[in-house]
Amino acid sequence: MSEPLTLGVAGLGTVGMGLIQLLNAHAARLEKMLGRPIVVTGVSARNRDKARGEGFGSARWFDDPVALAKDPSNAVFVELIGGEDGPAKAAIEAALEAKKHVVTANKALLAKHGIALAKKAEAQGVSLNFEAAVAGGIPIIKMLREALAANGVKRVYGILNGTCNFILTKMTDENRGFSEALKEAQELGYAEADPSFDIGGFDAAHKLSLLVSLAFGTTIAFDQIHVEGIETIATADIEAATELGYCIKLLGVAVDTEQGVEARVSPVLVAEESALAEVSGVTNCVGIDGDFAGNLLLVGPGAGAKPTASAVASDIVDIARGLVMPPFIRSTSVLEPARGLDLKSRLGNYYVRLSVYDRPGAMAAITKRMGDENVSLESIVQKRPGPVHPGQAAEPRPGAAEAAVNVILITHDTTEDAMRKALRAIEKDGHVKERPQMIRIEDL
Ligand code: HSE
Repeated sequence: MSEPLTLGVAGLGTVGMGLIQLLNAHAARLEKMLGRPIVVTGVSARNRDKARGEGFGSARWFDDPVALAKDPSNAVFVELIGGEDGPAKAAIEAALEAKKHVVTANKALLAKHGIALAKKAEAQGVSLNFEAAVAGGIPIIKMLREALAANGVKRVYGILNGTCNFILTKMTDENRGFSEALKEAQELGYAEADPSFDIGGFDAAHKLSLLVSLAFGTTIAFDQIHVEGIETIATADIEAATELGYCIKLLGVAVDTEQGVEARVSPVLVAEESALAEVSGVTNCVGIDGDFAGNLLLVGPGAGAKPTASAVASDIVDIARGLVMPPFIRSTSVLEPARGLDLKSRLGNYYVRLSVYDRPGAMAAITKRMGDENVSLESIVQKRPGPVHPGQAAEPRPGAAEAAVNVILITHDTTEDAMRKALRAIEKDGHVKERPQMIRIEDL
């Protein structure tokens, strides 16, 4: 039997404890498979006294994750602290400087410092593995690195945030309110410590930026990704989308074109018969268009203790087998900076919800503004106002706020630039009560 592979694990939250549970449950199986045991020799977390319900064997406690990262008792440093800077970054840097392999699930840190840390790992001849950073339990990094290594990839997309997908699914299937669904996602351990990372689309954008580098061989600055979250999705949008045969999803899409890389995270409408519409709850999916392999869609749990721990453990298994690869599949020296592409030129169709004052000429003015920008409409649906009860006046009383009704438009193919110009003009005309809601429709 060879030497044990020794681990220092920093961060004992949802994922950290999931990893400890996995390593305890599968210790004998992994030892048999790898010909060597995996032993946690040190752990670190913010609160030593918290009851965690899982044994750490003879692992030593470290108050300071950087001290754990430097300690010679472990050969692999596993960072599960989170945070794009601070202790997580300091500890990873210390581990790489000490020529240790590093495994992390920290997409926020990698989106910001991944290339610099990868350079350091390459220079030291060690691994920086991050399978758990993208789409939780879906082995997308190993898929790109191994099975699809010989393909050219021109598009990668996916439902990359379990919390958002869980919220949108609850809103659609159970008519739940946004806050109630978010609270439930947090209680189940899906959401980030700061849930605005999830609902604002930033967590998905962090993952998309890593996918861009892995799939296209380019680096992309975070601000080259257009990011919109799900906070603006109203029950009225969910209802209208359902009635029109669509489903709302938060989608990350990156396309490598001759003109540059288009990368965006935003809510989109997908047809209810699309495979993406079937991806519900905390489930994620990642689609890859490979030039030889064809179009692939991987579906699986994107968050939660066990799936994420499974991904972290798979990185540890690679190290136990002696596999050392460049973190971004090819050497950082050949990664080229992506030229960002302005979304203005995106061609596609759009869903628009307007809260229109119920007055003569309003609709004519709206359709005129669309026509002025050459936007052709596929459908217009004016929703009925709320029910008028017996004895209640149908017309507003003098002095009462003017009534507005939801009008839903679906456009034919047009550019995003034209849509934005038309909606700005509609807003200026003063026939709408609120900012227009515009959601891209994705033919996926
Ligand atoms: N908060 C993330 C999500 C966890 O909801 O997908 C996994 O990255």
